[in-house]
Amino acid sequence: MATSPTTAADLIPSDAPLERLASIAAGCTACDLHRTGTRTVFGEGAADARLLLVGEQPGDREDVEGRPFVGPAGRELDRALEAVGLGDVPQYRTNTVKHFKWSEQRGKRRIHEKPNRIEIQACLPWLQAELDRTSPDVLVLLGATAAQAVLGPETKVTRARGRLHVGPHGVPTVPTVHPSSVLRARSDADRVAARDAFQDDLAAVATLLEQGPRPLAEDATVAELRAMTAALDLTVPARTRKADLVDVVVGALPR
Ligand code: URA
Ligand code: SF4
Repeated sequence: MATSPTTAADLIPSDAPLERLASIAAGCTACDLHRTGTRTVFGEGAADARLLLVGEQPGDREDVEGRPFVGPAGRELDRALEAVGLGDVPQYRTNTVKHFKWSEQRGKRRIHEKPNRIEIQACLPWLQAELDRTSPDVLVLLGATAAQAVLGPETKVTRARGRLHVGPHGVPTVPTVHPSSVLRARSDADRVAARDAFQDDLAAVATLLEQGPRPLAEDATVAELRAMTAALDLTVPARTRKADLVDVVVGALPR
C-alpha cells in the first residue's frame, strides 16, 4: 500500500503563535530540502500586517541570512512596491517552501532549482499555518509555485496575474509573476517591459487596499466572478447577471 508523503503537519501545534512556529520550523526535516538548505527561512513580519506576500522558496542570499527576500529578487520586489506607493505598508513575507533548493555551484552562487510537488506538499502546512495566523487585507502570490499552491494547480499566472481572486479565509488575493522573472529578462527592453507589467499587477494591489474590491471585481470576467463566489461558499443562481455577481462578491469581501 502506498504511504502518503511526510509533511510538516505533525510538527504544528494548533494554538502556537507565529514566533513559536518559526522556532519549531527551524528544526523541520519533513522533506529532503533540509539537506540542501542551510537553514529554514520562515516568514517574517507582524501577524496583523495588511499585506501578505508569498514567494517560492528562499534563494542563495536568503539561505545565508535566514530571512526571506533579502537578495536580488527581494530588491526587485521592494523597488516595485515602492513604485506603486506600497513601500511603507506593513507586510508579512514568506515562501511556499522554507528551505533553499539548489543544484550546482557557479562561481560563488548556487543555482536555484524549482521545488517539486512532494517538497511543496511537505512544506505546505507551514504556509497554511501562517495563513491561519495572519489576517491581511490582501494576499499577493508571487509566481506559479505560490499561485498554484494557494489557488490550485490549474492556476495559470499569465492569465490570473493582476486580477482579483479569493484566497484562503476569503482574503482578496492577487497573483503575479515572481520578481526574479524580471531579473531573468534577456534584453534591457524585455526587462523594462517585465518590470512595468509587474508594477501594474502591484498597482492593482494598491487599488484593492485603497478602494476595496469593487474596481477589480468590475474588471473580472463572469467566470472569474463565479470562481470567487464558489471560493466564498456562496450559491448564486445560474443566470445571475454580471453586475449582480459583482455586487455579491463585493458584498462578501472585507473592505
Ligand atoms: N525568491 C523567493 O521566492 N523568495 C525569497 O525569499 C527569495 C527569492
Ligand atoms: Fe520542512 Fe519545508 Fe524545509 Fe522541507 S522545505 S524540511 S517541509 S521546512
